[in-house]
Amino acid sequence: MTGGNLPKGPAAPSGPISTTKAAAKPLAPYDVASARRTRIPVWAMPVVAILPLWAFLYAGTMTKPPSTTLTLVEAGSEVYGAAGCAGCHGAGGGGGVGPALAKGAVIATYPNPVDQVRWLILGSAGGGELYAKAGKASKGGMPAFGKTLTLDQIVEVVLHERQTISGQKPEADAEGWADLRKVPEEFPDLGYTKDQVERILEEISAQEGVTIPEGE
Ligand code: HEC
Repeated sequence: MTGGNLPKGPAAPSGPISTTKAAAKPLAPYDVASARRTRIPVWAMPVVAILPLWAFLYAGTMTKPPSTTLTLVEAGSEVYGAAGCAGCHGAGGGGGVGPALAKGAVIATYPNPVDQVRWLILGSAGGGELYAKAGKASKGGMPAFGKTLTLDQIVEVVLHERQTISGQKPEADAEGWADLRKVPEEFPDLGYTKDQVERILEEISAQEGVTIPEGE
């Protein structure tokens, strides 16, 4: 290793060096130190100037509220995109591969929000009877979400579909939501618990300011 390829330092000045200045005034040690100190290059100044702002914004991201502070309806909107509902029913529920959900369509099909919960759990494969009860002939194609979404997520997306997409008023669904207490027994394989259902019902009534009738 000869070091021949290492980057070279500043080139030595060629030609005779003028010594007039140095001769006139020898450099004091502090001048030498000052000359040697690494300076912040001019181009970096804006970066340096912006550091406090960056630090402030960065600190802000540390205290950003976790996603659990979303309302149920907001969380439902996220589920609607993430679970692929939007892909088949349209981002605004206008329809696509699946039927339109907007403009009251889901309310007409499922007057009771819990029937819509059951439909999402079962999909076309298991929910044909439920669909027929709604006066619709199932043609298939709606996936079952019981195993891929939690009960919380299903309730959230149902709230989003009904309220945001279909324009339902929260108080119009309050009585119907009491039926969610029947769901753990109806789907024993899915491991839903009574406590989970009570917590969800409490969240709905607290966030929407509605009274859901008590269970027996
Ligand atoms: C692969 C496409 C597809 C995906 C993904 C999908 N759906 Fe569907 N959905 C359908 C089809 C098709 C139907 C009609 C079912 C039938 O005829 O059996 C339907 C029917 C429905 C209905 C009944 C609507 C009515 O009034 O008739 C609702 C509510 C619904 N879907 C909600 C959802 C939600 C919420 C999601 C996401 C968690 C979702 N769907 C994901 C295709 C899909």
